[in-house]
Amino acid sequence: MASATASISATSIVPRDLKAVQIAAVRHLEPSISTSTASNAPSRRRWAAARPLRAVEPGRRGEAVAAPAAAAAAGAVVEGEKRREEVDEVVDYEKLAAELENASPLEIIDKALERFGNDIAIAFSGAEDVALIEYAHLTGRPFRVFSLDTGRLNPETYRFFDEVEKHYGIRIEYMFPDAVEVQALVRSKGLFSFYEDGHQECCRVRKVRPLRRALSGLKAWITGQRKDQSPGTRAHIPVVQVDPSFEGMDGGIGSLVKWNPVANVEGKDIWNFLRTMEVPVNSLHSQGYVSIGCEPCTRPVLPGQHEREGRWWWEDAKAKECGLHKGNIAQEADMLGTNANGATAISSVNGTPDIFETEAIINLSRPGIENLLRLESRADPWIVVLYAPWCQFCQGMEASYMELAEKLSGSGVKVGKFQADGEQKPFAQEELQLGSFPTILFFPTHSSRPIKYPSERRDVDSLLAFVNALR
Ligand code: ADX
Ligand code: SF4
Repeated sequence: MASATASISATSIVPRDLKAVQIAAVRHLEPSISTSTASNAPSRRRWAAARPLRAVEPGRRGEAVAAPAAAAAAGAVVEGEKRREEVDEVVDYEKLAAELENASPLEIIDKALERFGNDIAIAFSGAEDVALIEYAHLTGRPFRVFSLDTGRLNPETYRFFDEVEKHYGIRIEYMFPDAVEVQALVRSKGLFSFYEDGHQECCRVRKVRPLRRALSGLKAWITGQRKDQSPGTRAHIPVVQVDPSFEGMDGGIGSLVKWNPVANVEGKDIWNFLRTMEVPVNSLHSQGYVSIGCEPCTRPVLPGQHEREGRWWWEDAKAKECGLHKGNIAQEADMLGTNANGATAISSVNGTPDIFETEAIINLSRPGIENLLRLESRADPWIVVLYAPWCQFCQGMEASYMELAEKLSGSGVKVGKFQADGEQKPFAQEELQLGSFPTILFFPTHSSRPIKYPSERRDVDSLLAFVNALR
């Protein structure tokens, strides 16, 4: 990308008038800040990357996010050297994540910026993750921000980027997709191919590859991922981790650190923070949008709907990740069977204890569920979960499904389970609408065709609402 747009004058970022709450938050950090400001002696806390980092190869940055002009300043270079010395130590990021599990986002971002200086950047999507920028701003340290401009964002998002740049006095380092790749995709498949064959291909061209390029110029990045964004796929995000998928400027898995400072923060608390701090927000939020991505792939959600139901809504819940955070959903491919060939599933079945083990849930055999499917008219309605015991999403809903069974016992609605992995999987895919695990089906009394539960919300109240609406 053009260095002109990348030239953040990092040292010129002057904090706005600090409000009471900011002061309180910053004061809280004073001890660590005072011993480790960017221009002071090396931090007392000595951290290092996942593995010793090699010297930076000249020219390796390629098309990566360009270094801000401020990096050229002598002070920054000296500081960079100090940091590199520290980086040569090996840090146990799992341990660090455990230590920081209860730290505030401000504290986590402060540590990330202190540690990585000019070699770290915030990944900003143009939505409520503007909170990351506000936190970085509150630390008083220089910081960088990049964004993946897919070319398909809403006009409101572009306006918001501009507003954020002006509000904070920064330049966002935009990353664009490769023109030839976009051209090839659009010329061969049209502008909206993702509605027909899934969003992965377009996301790969417009998001994932540009992200890879951006990260190849960094040693660490900061994301706005939160656990509550997707109980299915993001439930285990640590606040800091060695990036399991992408590589940093020194190359190789292990050369990039990923910070997720708001992993443990709930959406409502992010919004309280944005409101309190009077941070500008994307105007789409006031039109019912919660999670915001590209225009053709995002729509508003209704009250009570989960935020990610507005993303790629025409696809199964399993697919609602675009690949930017692959490592956090590494097990998903196995769980969903997207790369399962039966053999894998069967072997994991053998080693994994069964789930949904309660008397209130009827364990259906293959003939049992075939019978249920054949009945034109059933005495009682049924709700049945198609599951795999090794699937973490199934394990995640075990408690709520068992509670549902307890609540429904004696109500006339039967609650069942059918283990649909391994050799049962092709049958379940063809006859039972199995897309991903878990799939939940309701068998009404007067229709043979089961109705698939369409939501990612698997709490007991949502499941009960589904049953009550159809019984
Ligand atoms: S996505 O994987 O579904 O697209 P999501 O919208 O939840 O991601 O955002 C999670 C985090 O990923 C954001 O807080 C941000 O750090 C990063 N991210 C998502 N989209 C972009 C983007 N277009 N540019 C930069 N970072 C992004
Ligand atoms: Fe393409 Fe939609 Fe992915 Fe954007 S979110 S890159 S438009 S598939």
